[in-house]
Amino acid sequence: MAQLIDGKALAKKTRGNVKEIVEKMKTKPGLAVVMVGDDPASKIYVSSKEKACIEVGMYSEKVILPENTSEEEVLKTIHRLNNDKKINGILVQVPLPKHLTESVIIDAICVEKDVDCFHKYNLGQLLVADEHTNANELIVPCTPKGIIEMIESTGQSIAGKKAVVVGRSNIVGKPIAILLLEKNATVTVCHSRTKDLKAETLTADILVAAVGRPNFITGDMIKKGAIVIDAGINRTDKGIVGDVDFVQCSQVAGYITPVPGGVGPMTIACLIENTLLLAKKGASLKK
Ligand code: GUN
Repeated sequence: MAQLIDGKALAKKTRGNVKEIVEKMKTKPGLAVVMVGDDPASKIYVSSKEKACIEVGMYSEKVILPENTSEEEVLKTIHRLNNDKKINGILVQVPLPKHLTESVIIDAICVEKDVDCFHKYNLGQLLVADEHTNANELIVPCTPKGIIEMIESTGQSIAGKKAVVVGRSNIVGKPIAILLLEKNATVTVCHSRTKDLKAETLTADILVAAVGRPNFITGDMIKKGAIVIDAGINRTDKGIVGDVDFVQCSQVAGYITPVPGGVGPMTIACLIENTLLLAKKGASLKK
């Protein structure tokens, strides 16, 4: 039976560390969360982000715009937040309504406030990071950052391991593949056109599932003793389930993350960490 990687507990610890630092800061870090439309799932995520921000003593601003808001209006909001000294991090909740071009909106966030690391400049920085990069200054996307912390919490080293990432999104699949590579894993990225997915996943010492399909990874796809990370959040009639069939896979894996209570809470904790990082970087730029 696999050992559980308790994302909720790890996230609580991370938020606690951030809170201690924020308490000592004269100017509190500020996070702005922008949401367009009223997608029920996004609403829950946005509220959780706001709550976590307030809980650690940061300044929080939530901007909810109607579904039919024009691109120009959304950009106006971003520009206002870019110029607001109270705000260190800006997050635009995705997915956005279809009439808005995600890349245009994300690229309007100034790179110094891109708390999600969705901007192409910051993703580029991540891609070219090497041993000369100051890891404490590098902004890393929240979900992949949380995933690395969860893998490292097992005490197993990543270097030399075979890692298989299922999914190639800009938010999770691509950046987690880069981070695992940076930690010296041998990385394979699988996707909808992969010929024999099971043959690939069976080689994985570390498996990251980020496909958005409920219970997609079954027990017969897991190598015995593997570290299995489930980044899926799928709403089904049976409630929220991940991309990994937990009942089956926990019989075979060495370590596994639950859904809920795994990657989700860590993503939010990393968002709070990133807000603090941007506030510190912003303060040192002003000196
Ligand atoms: N939608 C799903 N996950 C995320 C995330 O980490 N950040 C933003 N901005 N939107 C999301």
